[in-house]
Amino acid sequence: MTGPIKTVGVIGAGQMGSGIAHVCSLAGFNVQLHDLSEDRINAGLATINENITRQVAKGVISDAEHQAALERIRPTLAYDDLSACDLVIEAATENEEVKRKIFTNLCPSLHPDALLATNTSSISIMRLAAATDRPERFIGIHFMNPVPVMQLVELIRGIATDDATYESAQEFIAKLGKTSTVSEDFPAFIVNRILLPMINEAIYTLYEGVGSVEGIDTAMRLGANHPMGPLQLADFIGLDTCLSIMQGIHEGLADSKYRPCPLLVKYVEAGWLGRKTKRGFYDYRGEQPVPTR
Ligand code: CAA
Repeated sequence: MTGPIKTVGVIGAGQMGSGIAHVCSLAGFNVQLHDLSEDRINAGLATINENITRQVAKGVISDAEHQAALERIRPTLAYDDLSACDLVIEAATENEEVKRKIFTNLCPSLHPDALLATNTSSISIMRLAAATDRPERFIGIHFMNPVPVMQLVELIRGIATDDATYESAQEFIAKLGKTSTVSEDFPAFIVNRILLPMINEAIYTLYEGVGSVEGIDTAMRLGANHPMGPLQLADFIGLDTCLSIMQGIHEGLADSKYRPCPLLVKYVEAGWLGRKTKRGFYDYRGEQPVPTR
């Protein structure tokens, strides 16, 4: 990187990508938001608009800032439109093959000095870096969901990440008004290494009949002061993502204490993935969420 980061590319306009585009544009960065179809990009832009509107309603930002932020986001379906980006953050599906394919196709379009980052929540940064043409300018920048609200961003250096890339990433996070922590490149890094086994244990607690869905969530909300119960949080993250993170920890650390709960596997196989499919540990199709067990 020769100069400061001004233009940020975001690959994927889903839950995380739209949140990342949201905070980058509000912080004054130009954003190129890429996805595979106009429908997906429009859905992402609608989410951003909705969430910025909430912030306007709360008086956190003004109408003028709202409009200016939306104008800074340019949608695109072509990697070539990312050629002027100083930093590109990949926030596609949590699947190693999908991410590797994106990097292989994306790299030829990037400026040679551009920094490249992944928002992966659990995949090895070193393995993903190897699918790029710039392992020394590649880094993990892991945002938490919901991105506009959560203060933390984890930075994960791959084995080849150079100091300049790490320092630029730190500066970038500070400009977003967020706090960064550094994690070594081990399965699920820090937050998910601790959070997901807790959620998995909550699912075992349900599976073994120790408590009901509501009992477990109430216990952790009121007994441990968590803002959401673990089963609510699992539905919020997405049960497919929870399973894939647990599988990554289980395989990566080869320790049976991390085995994913069979009930989590069953819900994912049923396509009950939480809020995004309107059913998980709760059914969201009515006015109020209703426990499904
Ligand atoms: N965009 C902008 N603002 C948002 C928002 C969004 N998407 N979602 C919520 N907010 C704002 C609300 O407007 C509200 O603002 P004020 O405090 O100014 O009133 C505030 O956040 C709280 O929201 P609500 O009143 O609607 O609801 P709540 O009090 O129940 O809080 C929550 C919602 C912030 C999500 C809270 O329940 C919470 O912190 N839950 C835990 C979230 C968590 O643990 N996230 C990490 C998941 S793990 C992860 O992300 C890593 C991974 O890789 C899987």
